[in-house]
Amino acid sequence: MFYLCTPIFIPNLVEKETIYILAIESSCDDTSAAVLHNDKVISNVVATQKIHEEYGGVVPELASRAHQQNIVPVVHQALLKANIDKKQLSAIAFTRGPGLMGSLLVGTSFAKSLALGLHIPLIEVNHMQAHILAHYIDEETSNKPEFPFLAMTISGGHTQIVKVNDYFDMEILGETLDDAVGEAFDKSAKILGLPYPGGPLVDKHAKLGDPKRFPFPKPKVGELDFSFSGLKTSILYFIQRETKKNPKFVEENLDDICASIQYTITNILMDKLKKAVKETGINRIAIGGGVSANSGIRNVLKNAEKNYGWSTYIPKFEYCTDNAAMIGIVGYYKFKKKMFATQEITAKARYVI
Ligand code: KG4
Ligand code: ZN
Repeated sequence: MFYLCTPIFIPNLVEKETIYILAIESSCDDTSAAVLHNDKVISNVVATQKIHEEYGGVVPELASRAHQQNIVPVVHQALLKANIDKKQLSAIAFTRGPGLMGSLLVGTSFAKSLALGLHIPLIEVNHMQAHILAHYIDEETSNKPEFPFLAMTISGGHTQIVKVNDYFDMEILGETLDDAVGEAFDKSAKILGLPYPGGPLVDKHAKLGDPKRFPFPKPKVGELDFSFSGLKTSILYFIQRETKKNPKFVEENLDDICASIQYTITNILMDKLKKAVKETGINRIAIGGGVSANSGIRNVLKNAEKNYGWSTYIPKFEYCTDNAAMIGIVGYYKFKKKMFATQEITAKARYVI
C-alpha cells in the first residue's frame, strides 16, 4: 500500500493578506473615521455637525472648529467598534481634497501625525474618487461594476459624469457649470422654508406628491455638462408669484412642489446619462455622492435596467453620503499598489480626479 505523507504546499491558501486601514474623512461638515480589514468595513463612524442647520448652509469656520472637537472621539470610537488596537494598523488614509480648506486641514494634519507616530504609511485620497470606488467595498450583497463603467457623482459640491477605466484611471466627461445638484435640492428647500440640508426633506415630501403638477423648465446646456442655477431661479420666481396670490401656497402644496422639483432634477440627470451611454457605448452605470441617497433617483435608475437594458449600481445608503469607509476602500487599493504619500503632503481644496 502507498501512503502520501509529503505535505502539499498551496501558496494561495497560505498567503492570506491582512491589511488594516484607518480612514479619516473631514472634507465638509461630517467628521468620519472607519476601519477596514482588507476591502471589508469593520467600523464606520460619522459625526454630522448640526450647528450649520441654523445658518441654512455650511459655515466653513464653524465646520473646521467642529472637526477639531470631533476628530479624536470619532477616531477613538471607530477603533473601539472595530476592536482594533492602533498598533495593528497597516496605514492611515485621509481625504486630501476637494473640500473646504479649514475642514480638510484638520483631517490631513491628524492623519499625518498619527502615521508619523505609529511609523506606518500615509495614503492620500481624492474625495470624488472615493465616492466612485465606494462600490468596491466588499459586502455580502455587493454587486461591483466591471471596468469600464460610467459613474455619476452627485453631491452637495459636485455633479460629474466620469468614465472609469480602472481604479485610478478616470476621465471626467461632463460636469456642472454652476451649482451642484445637491445645492439645487438644498437651495430649493430653503426657498420653501425647509431647514438645511433640505435634500432629504424634499425627498420625504416628494414621496407624497404629484411629480407632474408643476412643470419647471430644464436647462439647455451642451455636451454632457449640467447647470442648475436657472432651475433655482425659476423655482424662486414661481414661489414668489404664487405666494402673492395665496400666502399659504407653499404650505398647501408642499408635497406636490417637492415632487415636481425632484422629478425635474431627476429628468435632467437621466437625459445626460442617456446621452453619455449613447456616446460611449458603455451601459454600466454607477452613482455616488450624497444625492444618490435620493429615492426618486434610485427608483429611476433601478427601472433603467428593464427600460434601457442598463446595468445599474447603487451604493448602500450609508456609503452614499460622506463617510470614511469610502476613503478606506481607496486606501486599501492604494496600499496594495504601495501608493503612499510623504509627510510633505498638504490638503488641496480644488483637487481634480
Ligand atoms: O456627498 P455629500 O454627503 O457631501 C458632499 O460632498 O457634498 O452630499 C450632501 C448633499 C446635500 O446637498 C444633501 O442635501 C444631499 O446630498 N442629499 C440628498 C438626499 N440625501 C442627501 N438630496 C436629495 N435627496 C436625498 N435623499
Ligand atoms: Zn461627498
